[in-house]
Amino acid sequence: MVSRMGKIKCGVVGVGNCFAGLYQGLHYYKENPEKGVIGLMHQDMAGYRTQDIEFVSAFDVGSNKVGKSLDEATYAEPNMVDWIRLPKSDVIVQESPVLDGVGKYVEDVIKPVTNKPISQLREDIKKHIKETGTEIIVSYLPVGSQKAAEFWAETCLEAGVAFVNCMPVFIASDPDWEKKFREKKVPVIGDDIKGQIGATIVHRVLTRLTQDRGAELDKTYQLNVGGNTDFQNMLERSRLESKKVSKTESVQSQMKNRIPEENIHIGPSDHVPFLQNTKLCFLYMEGRQWADIPYKIDLKLDVDDKANSAGIVVDAVRAAKIALDRGYGGAIESASAYLMKHPPVQMSDPEAKAALEYFIMGKEQKLGK
Ligand SMILES: NC(=O)c1ccc[n+]([C@@H]2O[C@H](COP(=O)([O-])OP(=O)(O)OC[C@H]3O[C@@H](n4cnc5c(N)ncnc54)[C@H](O)[C@@H]3O)[C@@H](O)[C@H]2O)c1
Repeated sequence: MVSRMGKIKCGVVGVGNCFAGLYQGLHYYKENPEKGVIGLMHQDMAGYRTQDIEFVSAFDVGSNKVGKSLDEATYAEPNMVDWIRLPKSDVIVQESPVLDGVGKYVEDVIKPVTNKPISQLREDIKKHIKETGTEIIVSYLPVGSQKAAEFWAETCLEAGVAFVNCMPVFIASDPDWEKKFREKKVPVIGDDIKGQIGATIVHRVLTRLTQDRGAELDKTYQLNVGGNTDFQNMLERSRLESKKVSKTESVQSQMKNRIPEENIHIGPSDHVPFLQNTKLCFLYMEGRQWADIPYKIDLKLDVDDKANSAGIVVDAVRAAKIALDRGYGGAIESASAYLMKHPPVQMSDPEAKAALEYFIMGKEQKLGK
């Protein structure tokens, strides 16, 4: 089907499992145009369809990914998404600076290439972005990659390409970074992508339910386990600080009064290798109703972690493209609130959805002018 608006040329940083799920899904929908895309927003968002998204550049550090074609790199270890076979891609994965990207628990499975100094890499990357016509960078860097995330935010600013930050280093939600994007008139959407039916959204909606129904929520936890490198990397507690803030604030923001810190625990809990990309979430809530009589919710969510966020990224990429078309810079507040766990401005999900609908119609853009 021919799009009204043309292609959206994207680059990816971190050709890991999340990207493998997104990329294989994009191909699935290109091959099956009669299928409605199962995602959050419209099949057609201001003239852009899922099928309009093209990955024209890719960056990683894995020695078995850099220099390989993008289809090949998508299946390379330790990736484990293998839903469908991809056709040969012309895109060759380029080297990204390692910085703090590879944590100690994944060192045995990700062997980074370190061929070039950072200053040269930055120039090479900007040149490649220009040559390939990349207009949006999607970051799937590992949790805890503060320096690598900042390198890529800076590179996007210098290259003038939009930044969709799917991981929990705060860029769109950090006032200093947001200002830089606004001043350069470069759109940024972030931070930390939500899942479609993920632990955060289920926890947020149930939290909001307790508040809307006038009940008290006194204590809650959310424990997550999975078997991929994301969970393996998160065994390193020191890398988790921003992930924990992102997930906890996403739930706290739905409370009328914050739950005391000692009564809320949200975070990944363990790596169970045989689970592979299956993520299990154990969610517990307890509180009080009429006459202080207690209630409890004890829930287990069982999802494919990589199918969960891909449809949301499709919407984030399309919102970034709309912002580029309209000359907006800075954080795209509505898209970040609806699609990300730690946006610059937290809203309830229905409010965020309405704000994003307004943005798509060209009616609202508060932060980025
Ligand atoms: N549902 C979800 O899966 C979900 C939801 C929200 C956020 N996220 C976040 O998305 C990110 C990606 O998750 P994943 O499961 O794809 O992880 P992954 O471990 O499978 O992939 C990470 C990739 O980044 C590469 N990498 C490491 N350092 C790099 C660097 N400096 N430059 C470029 N590439 C580098 C690795 O080689 C690997 O290919 C994580 O931060 C995760 O927390 C995922």
